[in-house]
Amino acid sequence: MAERMGSPNKSQEEELYEKSLRPQLLAQYIGQDKVKEELKIYIQAAKNREEALDHVLLYGPPGLGKTTMAMVIANEMQVHIRTTSGPSIEKPGDLIATLNELEPGDVLFIDEIHRLPRVAEEMLYSAMEDFYVDIMVGQGTTSHPVHFPLPPFTLIGATTRAGMLSAPLRDRFGIISHMEYYEEKDLKEIVLRSSSVFQTEIVHEGAVEIARRSRGTPRVANRLLKRIRDFAQVQADGVIDQKIADKALSLLQVDNEGLDYIDQKLIKTMIELYEGGPVGLNTLSVNIGEERETVEDMYEPFLIQKGFLKRTPRGRVATARSYEHFQYPYQDKFV
Ligand code: ADE
Repeated sequence: MAERMGSPNKSQEEELYEKSLRPQLLAQYIGQDKVKEELKIYIQAAKNREEALDHVLLYGPPGLGKTTMAMVIANEMQVHIRTTSGPSIEKPGDLIATLNELEPGDVLFIDEIHRLPRVAEEMLYSAMEDFYVDIMVGQGTTSHPVHFPLPPFTLIGATTRAGMLSAPLRDRFGIISHMEYYEEKDLKEIVLRSSSVFQTEIVHEGAVEIARRSRGTPRVANRLLKRIRDFAQVQADGVIDQKIADKALSLLQVDNEGLDYIDQKLIKTMIELYEGGPVGLNTLSVNIGEERETVEDMYEPFLIQKGFLKRTPRGRVATARSYEHFQYPYQDKFV
């Protein structure tokens, strides 16, 4: 197993630390049981046949461990992983350079694959299906395609929105896995594991409190854990218990339901300025000063799942639960 993932901006120490936070094998990966169960079978079968694993599309909200899962898959397959992202591939040459580095069986991980330029996406069709690309060389009347064979490889694409992928690209993934928000018990395990990596003492109730207020997202849980650890160190004896976690989370403006500052601003804006909606996504995004995509991919899915917000054909609507949570009087406009 080898990994060629280094970023020149990170110190070795930082990389080691991040790596130890990330599980290396399926058995160490907490949560996403359905995804793991399926992948385990496909990985085993591909290994038995000594073939590259079929292409995998991982989709779901940000921070749920799609990159980690891609690394785990490569580790399990005992192959190298090359990583890139949709926005960083600007021209076909960028994609060719990456494809050129692949060895048989390797994993090519493309994060934010929905943001791949059209020409690069079209090159992927033959690369994925028959392991070749045709490259145009020369200009004008001398321009002609050159056939460029590739080794069998596994493309792992990650996206926050499967709906934004074109049908021809989506259909070329043999394995499509939906990553879900984590259950509280799984997030608690992740918090406990990360605490031990940080060598921070934490009691059961402290871990539960962080898990409960982490928007179902390991990235959020780990970020909050780091801040709460600082708080526990400076304002207490370094041990994270429920009281310290609660105090620190309140200071971090994470409310009792796990809504962060932006979630709160979004709902309050809907209620205070637009009588709870319907209000358009663009209007809402401008009002809270966030990109439309950020609101759509990161904030809304969680708020919808928790029952604070609804998407309707006429715009976004704050639910009765939102009114109750933020203590505004509720009038059902739809009766
Ligand atoms: N750290 C972050 N996400 C994790 C996960 N799903 N399993 C184990 N450790 C993690």
